[in-house]
Amino acid sequence: PTFLHQIAGSPKAELHIHIEGSLEPELIFALAERHGITLPYASIEALRAAYAFTDLQSFLNVYYAGAGVLLEAEDFYQMTRAYIERARADNVIHSEIFFDPQTHTERGVPMAAMLEGIEAALAEAERADGFSSRLILCFLRHLSEESAHEALAQALPLLGRYAHRLIGVGLDSSELGHPPSKFERVFAQARRAGLRAVAHAGEEGPPDYIYQALDLLKVDRIDHGVRASEDPALVRRLADSRIALTVCPLSNLKLCVFDDMRKHTLKSLLDAGVAITINSDDPAYFGGYVNANYIAAADALTLSAAEVRTIAANSFEAAFISADERAGMM
Ligand code: HPA
Ligand code: ZN
Repeated sequence: PTFLHQIAGSPKAELHIHIEGSLEPELIFALAERHGITLPYASIEALRAAYAFTDLQSFLNVYYAGAGVLLEAEDFYQMTRAYIERARADNVIHSEIFFDPQTHTERGVPMAAMLEGIEAALAEAERADGFSSRLILCFLRHLSEESAHEALAQALPLLGRYAHRLIGVGLDSSELGHPPSKFERVFAQARRAGLRAVAHAGEEGPPDYIYQALDLLKVDRIDHGVRASEDPALVRRLADSRIALTVCPLSNLKLCVFDDMRKHTLKSLLDAGVAITINSDDPAYFGGYVNANYIAAADALTLSAAEVRTIAANSFEAAFISADERAGMM
């Protein structure tokens, strides 16, 4: 239908994409071969067949195994280049990209190498057609507070060099049992260094984790946040404060947050006035980039053309860009 066609063709910002989650099986195998790494999967098809997830943790196990092929700046460059190509094809003109440094430093990859490779691709895209982007460093919440402090300490000396790009911190990985409160101090330190803050909350975790992200980590956006719908007072607070949710419909379906897209809470949250955005999360693993997420949600929830336009406008309003940049994009 023409309406779905319009969705695909309209400019949008993507605010929730883990760059390691854009690593397609073909590139995982190519990088493994380059580095002489033996993967626990016999073939590209066998790897893809393992993408049958029952919850967040079952995905993270495969996701961290895939990221294990990233060793040199060049690998990060290739991965980022491939993502930008897919994003551009979906008319994404601005992207705020998460990366998970702790999963790489654990394997001896220096923070500087990751940033060098990712930045080379982002700067190249910016020069080529103005593709706009920012980077957000995510702490892995299943690791210790001390480990998060180490990751921040490794990034701080590079903030000057990447001031135009590395503008925030986030919180991802296994949510249940790792509440935002565990990272209150490291987030305070990051904010003192001038960084913005976001956190995954209310994906599998309860509404209380969303309150903690707001009140303790003082985040500017909530990643996922789909369980906010369980708490009417929280829904009103999100709507009144215009704190955006970066929702990822295909991710939620693949990780069994909802067993049917028609049960997704984004429509009722949108109706309540919450600033909903639509994003791809880990597109190589969840079966689609940003347009596929818009279309899946619009289809299952019978979103109107006006609602989809609102969601795309929200993506620019919630982006960490200047008013001038925003005016040039919307
Ligand atoms: N949730 C938590 N951690 C993640 C995700 C997610 O959706 N994707 C990559 N790391
Ligand atoms: Zn995510």
